[in-house]
Amino acid sequence: MKDKRVKDAFKSKFNSEFRFFAAPGRINIIGEHTDYNDGFVLPAAIDKRIYLAIAPSKGPDAEIIAHDFTQKVSFNIHEPAGKIPHWAKYPYGVVKELQAAGYFIEGFKAVFGGDIPRGAGLSSSAALESAFATALNAMYKLGIGPMELAMIGQRAEHNYAGVKCGIMDQFASLHGSKDHVMKLDCRSLEFEYFPLELQGYELILADTGVKHSLASSEYNVRRAQCEEGVSIMQKQMPGIKSLRDVTPKDVASSKNEMSPEVFMRCEYVTEENERVTEACIALEKGDMKEVGRLLYQSHDGLSNKYQVSCPELDLLIDTAKQINGVMGGRMMGGGFGGCTINLVESAVADTFKSTLSKSFLEKFGKEPVFHAVNISDGAREEV
Ligand code: GLA
Repeated sequence: MKDKRVKDAFKSKFNSEFRFFAAPGRINIIGEHTDYNDGFVLPAAIDKRIYLAIAPSKGPDAEIIAHDFTQKVSFNIHEPAGKIPHWAKYPYGVVKELQAAGYFIEGFKAVFGGDIPRGAGLSSSAALESAFATALNAMYKLGIGPMELAMIGQRAEHNYAGVKCGIMDQFASLHGSKDHVMKLDCRSLEFEYFPLELQGYELILADTGVKHSLASSEYNVRRAQCEEGVSIMQKQMPGIKSLRDVTPKDVASSKNEMSPEVFMRCEYVTEENERVTEACIALEKGDMKEVGRLLYQSHDGLSNKYQVSCPELDLLIDTAKQINGVMGGRMMGGGFGGCTINLVESAVADTFKSTLSKSFLEKFGKEPVFHAVNISDGAREEV
């Protein structure tokens, strides 16, 4: 068990009392690349987590051991960290953003590890930020609520990991609730829990094993293209602030002023926002056929209009479409690799996996990995 290994490592390294925290990764049913456009998302926290054993230390030094990488980093929390490994930028960024928001903390010693597959689009980095944010908040009695903690994690990612991400991943890690998906309005930050009742169906993640190396650079490019689209449309519609404020029809009427790329990005985002609302209605009705249809449409948009898919993801979705009893599926997360999320009749789950494995093996010489996930609670202290 990962959590036991983290506890044991803390005891053997620091030989002192500690507190223990866990923060989950997330899935997202639908609403991809909509969060930083003030739109809607439908994520849920999962039972794969970052585990963190931590104790305060007097003085300004932070000492962090990444158990899974067998690496250690130390820094003075009041000084620039200098060159640190990529993983350390997340806790370091959380420390810096807490300080920038006016909170006072002291040094700490910590060991973390986890079972969220990295690079699978399950937000292991947001879980790491959320684990440290939750722990430092509790340890130093900062009194910060979960939404503000999510925003601190998001700023850590922007300013220290260099990805201009939206709020979805940190939000989901901090607000998750067992067996519920959450519809978040990324503008007002209001959200609703929907019970996810899948009787007779399963959500299956199929992992391409492709690590999204393009993800951070292309992610920031997509974000800039959306902003460009908004500034073009503002000439006709001065009141708009983001793609949230326009419909696919509005985008179509500005088509001639936009580059083909900017047009496709804006068209995708406005259509995807509508799909999130439609998917919530279908989920409430238990209409899995309709949910599945929306998932396939979402993939089509992500692949052809937003252009953040890759041949491995597309093959998994094209293959899924051939199997009776598969309601729908799409790539999940930032893109360029990672997983597809699929809504599958339980009765055909095995056929689904074996068919995908066969065609993936034929084309790419290896099999995809299937992750079983349960929808779980958000970040918390464990006793
Ligand atoms: C990454 C980002 C999120 C979101 C998704 C795409 O996971 O961290 O904020 O933009 O990509 O939906």
